[in-house]
This record gives sequence, C-alpha cells and structure tokens, in this order.
Amino acid sequence: RPVPTPEDKFSFGLWTVGWEARDPFGDATRPPMDPVHALEQLAALGAYGVNFHDDDLIPFGSDDATRDAIIERFKKGLAETGLAVTTATTNLFTHPVFKDGAFTSNNREVRRFAIRKVMRNIDLAAELGAKVYVAWGGREGAEYGAAKDVPAALDRYREAFNVLGDYVADRGYDLRFAIEPKPNEPRGDILLPTVGHALAFIETLDRSEMVGVNPEIGHEEMAGINAAAGYAQALWQGKLFHIDLNGQNGPRYDQDLRFGAGNVRGAFWVVDTLLAGGYDGPVHFDYKPVRPETEAGVWASAKACMDNYLILRDKVRAFRADPEVQAALEEAGLPELATPTLAEGEGWQAILDDPQPDVDALAAREVAMEKLDQLALEHLYGVR
Ligand code: GCO
Ligand code: MN
Ligand code: MN
Ligand code: MN
Repeated sequence: RPVPTPEDKFSFGLWTVGWEARDPFGDATRPPMDPVHALEQLAALGAYGVNFHDDDLIPFGSDDATRDAIIERFKKGLAETGLAVTTATTNLFTHPVFKDGAFTSNNREVRRFAIRKVMRNIDLAAELGAKVYVAWGGREGAEYGAAKDVPAALDRYREAFNVLGDYVADRGYDLRFAIEPKPNEPRGDILLPTVGHALAFIETLDRSEMVGVNPEIGHEEMAGINAAAGYAQALWQGKLFHIDLNGQNGPRYDQDLRFGAGNVRGAFWVVDTLLAGGYDGPVHFDYKPVRPETEAGVWASAKACMDNYLILRDKVRAFRADPEVQAALEEAGLPELATPTLAEGEGWQAILDDPQPDVDALAAREVAMEKLDQLALEHLYGVR
C-alpha cells in the first residue's frame, strides 16, 4: 500500500490535530497542543503542509513582542520540518465580539475590526508563502428571521471581500480567497450555506477572479446535498481553490470525522471528481479527532485521513481503468454527453427542423446504470 509523501500535498489545519475537544456539553479532554509539536508529528507522518487561523498560532490579544516571538519559533519549526504553509484563515467566530457576525455583524465597528483582523493575518499568510486564504463565515447568520436583514448583510459581505481584494492587490500578494460554505452551526442559519450560494455570490464581487470556494464534504452533506457534485461544479467554474476533506453521516451536527469515515461512497466520488477535474491544490483535511481520544488517537486519525485518501485514490484509478467499467460507461451512454446538442453552425431553427423522433423507442432505451454503479461498489468493497 502507498504511504503518504509530501508529493501527495496533504495538509492539515493546526486546529484539527490541535483540537482540545471542547464541545457545547463538555470541557476539553485534551491539553492544548504546541503548534511546533504538531508540525513535527505531521511531517513525520508524511504531510506536506499546514493551515492555521491567526488565533491557532497567536493567542487573541497577544502583544506585538509575544506575536513576533511566536512567529519566529513557528518559522523555525517550518524550516526544520520542511512543511509548507499552504493556506491561512481568520478566526472570526470564537471571541464574543463576533457573537452577531464579523463581516455581517449589525455593528459597524465590529465589521471594521473583523476586516482589520483579516488584513493582519493576510500579511502573515503572505510572508509564510500561503497561496490561499480561506474565509469561513461561521458567525455570519442568525437564529431568527427578524434578527438579520439578509440583503443588507450580503451587501456588507460583498463590501468586505471587495476591500480585502483591494488589500491583496495593492500589497501585491500572490493570494486568492476561498469561501467555505456551511448551512448552520454555530449560527442557526449561516449566510452562503452551500457551494452554489457561494459561487453565485462570488460573481457579484469586484475582483471575482480572486475568489473561489473551499467546499467541506461534511458541510454539503449537512445540507443533504451531494458533495462530489458541488466539487464538480466548482471545478467546472474554475473556482475550486481549496478543499476541506472530512467525514459526515448525513444531515445532523457537524461531525468533522476523519476523511473516509462517515459517507464512504460519497468520499469515493469526491476523490473521483478531484482526479477527473485535475485538482492540484493542497489535499487538506479539516476534521476533529473524536472527543474520547487521547493524543495517540489524534495521530492515528491524522494518518488515517491520508491513508484513506490514498486507498480511495487507488480504488478510483482501478475503477476508471477497468475495461468492464469502460464498457459499462459506453453502455450507459456517457460518452455521448460530451457531444454538443447543436452541431457546428446550428441554431434553434435546426432543432425545429428535426424530424419527429421515435419517442417510445427513446423511452425504452437501455441505460445500464445499476450495472455501472455496482461495478463502482465492487471496486470500493475490494472484490475487484
Ligand atoms: C467547520 C469549519 C471550520 C473552518 C475553519 C476555517 O468545521 O465548521 O470547517 O473548521 O473550516 O474554521 O476557518
Ligand atoms: Mn466542519
Ligand atoms: Mn472546514
Ligand atoms: Mn472544521
């Protein structure tokens, strides 16, 4: 079996392996993790890079001297482990100042403070070589209908990305934004709840070319929708700037299980979609080692995320290379979908001129979808 190597571009959020496992009902079960220790362990497991929120590295409210010392030590850790900073993001959700949102708080002073917090961490992200800046708006939303004016909030949301786009351009940073959708949790309802909402929103931005999406498998599944299809559309629109892989069992609280746990079939199709679409960014895991675990379980699960990706990648490749699958794809009529509906030079008139088709024969045509899907399942089950 292949083992994870830096060429696989696996990356982890510092907040994933470093999660102290505090939940709404219980205190932390694990001690805080030293970020440099996380770098060492991840590098030893074969990871390529890390991603962090400003506050994962530098505690909220640290003075400049403390901040500088932490950054120096972190840079040394990066140099010694060879890990890259692929991505960075901002914590706009933990401090109570963001209780009603950050970019879309009703309070203008909070909105300005949030944008400044992002700009400060963008400087660090650029300095450390990150190419993607993730924006997950966990507190942008509401519990009650009257508590948020959604069109006004979207105006403010757009304003924030417009000014941040100007900031990155004016500073000359080589950095793109990736919006991470989520339907709910921690807010009752979150703005930009799915990949589709985010893609539509991005088109309204001044510098829309600078902004893409960071779909998280679990978040799409919380909304009851097909994560792979969301990744596919983001790729199709040239907007898949980053990915958050993890596991989820259907619509319920955000489980953030290790990648490959939860909806296994869904994970198979996500990997298939990424390979087919030529995604070449960091293969990033955003998961939480379950609360009962000690640090041993943290590293077991981090390794498992990468192993499961490699296992599924092998299975997807074997599925696509299988001659029986290729024949089944043919039988299911897949290749014909690549043929444009109109021939070169044709317009609507040509369609009006079509002879009446034999609709009964067309309705009765074979599609072989059950056979095709069973082949996929047999590859996944490991019997092919
Ligand atoms: C979640 C989210 C967050 C974000 C991360 C980046 O599980 O609700 O994935 O973990 O990805 O905070 O800002
Ligand atoms: Mn999540
Ligand atoms: Mn995420
Ligand atoms: Mn998460």
